[in-house]
Amino acid sequence: MINPKDKFPEALLNEPIAKRLQYFKDVQIDHLKHRVTFNHLVNSLNCAAGSKVIVVAGPTGVGKTTLARRLYRELQIKHADATNKDVSMVPVIGVNAAPPSGRNFNWKDFYARILERNGDILLNQKINLNGQGEMFTDTHCQPVEGSTADVLRRSLEKCMKYRKTRYLIIDEAHHILMVNDPTRLEYQFEMLKSMTIESDITIILIGTYDLLKIRDYSGQLVRRSEILSMNRYDANIKEDREEFTSALEYFLNKMPLKITPDFTNYREYFFIKCVGCIGILKDWLTRVYGHALKDGLDTFDQKYANKFALDNKGLITIIDEALSGEMKLEDEPYEELVKLLIESDNQSTSTESQPLKQKMSTEKKPRVGIRNPSRDQVGDNRHEG
Ligand SMILES: Nc1ncnc2c1ncn2[C@@H]1O[C@H](COP(=O)(O)OP(=O)(O)OP(=O)(O)O)[C@@H](O)[C@H]1O
Ligand SMILES: [Mg+2]
Repeated sequence: MINPKDKFPEALLNEPIAKRLQYFKDVQIDHLKHRVTFNHLVNSLNCAAGSKVIVVAGPTGVGKTTLARRLYRELQIKHADATNKDVSMVPVIGVNAAPPSGRNFNWKDFYARILERNGDILLNQKINLNGQGEMFTDTHCQPVEGSTADVLRRSLEKCMKYRKTRYLIIDEAHHILMVNDPTRLEYQFEMLKSMTIESDITIILIGTYDLLKIRDYSGQLVRRSEILSMNRYDANIKEDREEFTSALEYFLNKMPLKITPDFTNYREYFFIKCVGCIGILKDWLTRVYGHALKDGLDTFDQKYANKFALDNKGLITIIDEALSGEMKLEDEPYEELVKLLIESDNQSTSTESQPLKQKMSTEKKPRVGIRNPSRDQVGDNRHEG
């Protein structure tokens, strides 16, 4: 539970600006949406017949990376006894899926990063890991023989087995799905599936709602997976509004200022300007607090805070993405299954009976200038009869 009245230590007021700001940056809050998702995630991991891939999807700024970091810490603590006994053990690995610098997600770089985290001492003999910044220096990037993505993947699978890795947490996992050709998506999921099967690990994919594509592309992965959503606060739900208000007050009370700002009359304004996301609120208040310290203020008002808020255009983009993600999250009606499994046998030629995936691909708009053959009558029936 959040205690909104919990204050910062008074002594901080005499500390330098940098220390005060750092104190506020480090303030963590165990708010409802975070707690619910975290508990759900831990239950799924503890479940005996647990899924091998757990997807945590949510809008930007909802606190997914914060959740991933907490999970990493807690899993390490949970396995501390085992790692103390066997120092070669690496029970949990946390990694960021870097966005592709080219057109496709770079598996080779990804595997190499995990191997590095996993303490693979031979990594440098498999590939030269020069960063992009070094590309124009004298040291050339020359992968040694056999350092293809497949070789690195096999090394990684072996490495995770030897190091008794049980969990792989991948933050920003939606970057894995960044490919120039949508048909490659299936391949991306195959790679993940292979990792779970070969290394017997649980993969936790954390990222935006794009991750929900998993349901459209890989039946085998769906069977092994569970999807959790980390939701933003909903302005239409009283409990959500109250929790968000408590979080706002908590952050304000934790801000080392002579006079704590009072935004009782601006609760709705703060909710809206953060689209109900705690992470957006925290980042905003950090910006405001940093400027207030620099300006030597004892406190600040709503007008001052507004100067550092995200602009409405940007917030509309965020809310659009969130809404379309939430729609994707909605399940198909049961009747759709019935239609596919039972009725399709009777009407195998109708478009209704096509599997959803197929239906989705046929719903693509035709390219400009290309005729749609279903619209044009085939043949010339002037000569008929
Ligand atoms: N529970 C929390 N308590 C305190 N600060 C938080 C909390 N959750 C998030 N934040 C802060 O909010 C900011 C955004 O959070 P975070 O990076 O976790 O969001 P995200 O969902 O991963 O966003 P993105 O999708 O853009 O990566 C960070 O500065 C983080 O420290
Ligand atoms: Mg993040």
